[in-house]
This record gives sequence, structure tokens and C-alpha cells, in this order.
Amino acid sequence: MSDVRGRGFSTRSVWGSWYPGEDEKYEPIIPPIYVSTVFRHPPGIGRLLPRLGDLKYSRENNPTVMLLEATLCGLEEASWCLCFNSGMAALSSVLFSFLYSGRTRRVTVMRLVYAPTRLLVERVASMSGASYNVAGPPWDELLEAASRSDVIIVETMANPTLRVPPLRELYGLCRESGCKVVVDNTFASPAIYRPVSEGGHVVVESLTKYIVGHNDAIGGLVATNSREIAEETYTWRSLLGGIARPIDAYLTLRGLKTLKLRMERVSRTAKEVAEWLEDHPKVSRVYYPGLPSHPDHETARSLFNGMYGGVVSFEVKDGQEGALRVIDRVKTIVPSPSFGATESLLSYPEWSSHRELPENERRSLGITPGLLRLSVGLEDPEDLIEDLSQALGG
Ligand SMILES: Cc1ncc(COP(=O)(O)O)c(C=O)c1O
Repeated sequence: MSDVRGRGFSTRSVWGSWYPGEDEKYEPIIPPIYVSTVFRHPPGIGRLLPRLGDLKYSRENNPTVMLLEATLCGLEEASWCLCFNSGMAALSSVLFSFLYSGRTRRVTVMRLVYAPTRLLVERVASMSGASYNVAGPPWDELLEAASRSDVIIVETMANPTLRVPPLRELYGLCRESGCKVVVDNTFASPAIYRPVSEGGHVVVESLTKYIVGHNDAIGGLVATNSREIAEETYTWRSLLGGIARPIDAYLTLRGLKTLKLRMERVSRTAKEVAEWLEDHPKVSRVYYPGLPSHPDHETARSLFNGMYGGVVSFEVKDGQEGALRVIDRVKTIVPSPSFGATESLLSYPEWSSHRELPENERRSLGITPGLLRLSVGLEDPEDLIEDLSQALGG
């Protein structure tokens, strides 16, 4: 393997785990996909519960997945990375690790997290006997809840209003209180922010979004500097059967090579589109952390490296009727619930990501019937603006 420690982010994403000399016979530039489900191994590692790093059976570990994990460790600046067959599988293993350790009595979830995350935490917490509550925004409420919790789950940028919690304050407070901070970094990706290197205990990411980047593979990541958390999560990954498939691990390795390039491009396009939307007479509000008008712009500016990602949410003046009209009229942008890939997608949070929340809570979080979430892809910015212009109607 070429030693890329200390090199730039893009060099680490291209050469992070494989260099032609790895396979001395053919010297391929691209690694093979190891489809073998079983591996020859000395009798000593045939134990019931696998240990971190064992290689004998692909439900526990697989060489293509290990290559992906090695690359991600370099990018996340974390000692341990484990890859899963979805973001939810990654989160499940982390939750089981914490909630069945016997040390977690109280878990807090940021109010605006991805709705299935809330549902999963609620269910796993109640099964394990731990108490569960939601808090923040407002951020004072979140910090106060963290000081009384054993584990807190937050997102770097939270869907759909892209709220950014005061992560530095949270890490500082939790260092004192002993609360473990789990950060879902899906909306930022390590190209914009690396929670473990800043003081977060665990990073969870849906690889499905920016990291795979091409809408063609589903995956999840857990990254940490704690060997204990990594070992527990590894055991749960094996017991729940949540490891990434080799083909998806390969597609993720391929996506990673262009991650920074794509994040730079979508961040630029999203800012341009957000500024254009802010001036549009039919738009009443725009949420993009890169705009000075965003409630958490200063926090985002201090945490991130000048990029703010590719998701822009905006509220149209005619409420639900106006929002549905835009969805109906877009021609280049596709109505679809996901984000983070090469194609621009438009979703309607009121009926998709946040439909499970009580109406009064949706309204207090800014999720109104006129709100749309746009995930900017790699199309030319002027084509996206033209499409939005005709869809908004003048
Ligand atoms: C912020 C966030 N976290 C986690 C997930 C779950 O990821 P996956 O769909 O890969 O299971 C999603 C999915 O949309 C998400 O938006």
C-alpha cells in the first residue's frame, strides 16, 4: 500500500488503501472485488464471536470492505471504521452497542434528526429499558439535555432546514459530563467536516448519499477512535448481519475518489441556486447554511471548511399548492426522496422525511406545507436555475 498518511484529502481518497504493488502478479490499479464468502484461516480464529479484524467469513469481514474501511479511516481521521449495508444498519449496531452495554440509562436525540433515526432510537431504547428524549433546536435545550444523558445523537446538518448544532460546545460539555456524542455526518461528509477529529466519539454516515455519490449503492459507516466502541460495534455488526456487500464496498471506493471534487462543485452550485431563490418573488424563505440569513450560518462557518454541501430548502409563497405545482413542473430536476448524488432531486418533507412528526412539531421546526428540499447534483447551475424558474412560474 502506498503510504498516504499526511497527504491531502484527495490523494488519500484516491490511494487510501490500494496501490498497484498490492497484487504483485497483475499490478492492477483498481482493486479486485473479493466475492469469496469464506477464507482459509488457522483453527485458532474459529471462535463464536469474531474479533475486530478476523477474516474467515464475509458476514464478519471481507477484504473489499476492509479496503474501504482503511480508506475511510484516512479520510475521517479515525482509528477504526466499520462499513454496513445501509446507514440504518450502521446506526442500529451503534445503538445496540451503547444500549446493551449496561452503562446507558438515558439517551437524547436531536429533534430534527432523520425521522427513522428517531423511531429506531425510541424502539431500541424502550427494549433495553433506557429512557429516551428529544431536544433541540433550540440549542440551549439540546445542551441542557446532553448534560443529563449518557449518549446523545445529533446531525451535523439536519434535514430539511439544515440546522447546525453548536458541536464544539457540545463536545466540551460532554467531555466533562462523560456523555458519548454520536454524530450523523451524512449531510456534510468528511470532505466538509470530520467529527471524530474534533471531539465526537462516534461518526455515523449513510454512505448512500455523498460518499457513494452516484445513486447506485446503499451503505453505512461507523467511525471512532475508541477500540472498545469499535469492538462492540463489530460484534453487533456480525450478530445482526449488517456488513456491506463487496460490490457496494467497491462502488463506494470508486465514489470516494471524486468526493472532494463533487462536494466543491455541489457546494458552489447550491450557493448560487440559494442566492437566486432568495431573490425570487414566489419564494418566501431559503435555508442554506452558506447564506448569512441561515440561523446557524456563524456556527457552520466556524465548523466547516468553506463548503456547505448541496442541499437547499426553500418555502414557496403559495403553500402546499405552490410546492406541489413546482414538483409537478420540474423537467431536469427529478422528484425523489434522496440526496447527495450526481442527479438533482427534489423532495417534499411534509409528506416524506417528516410526515411521521406531529403537525405542531413540524410547524415549530419550520417544516411548512410550502417547503421543498432540493439536492443539487452535477448538472450545470444555469440549467437548474432555468428549470426552477419555469417551475416556479416567472
Ligand atoms: C441523515 C441521514 N442519516 C441516515 C440515513 C439512513 O441511511 P440509509 O438510507 O443508507 O440507511 C439517511 C437516509 O436518508 C439520512 O438522511
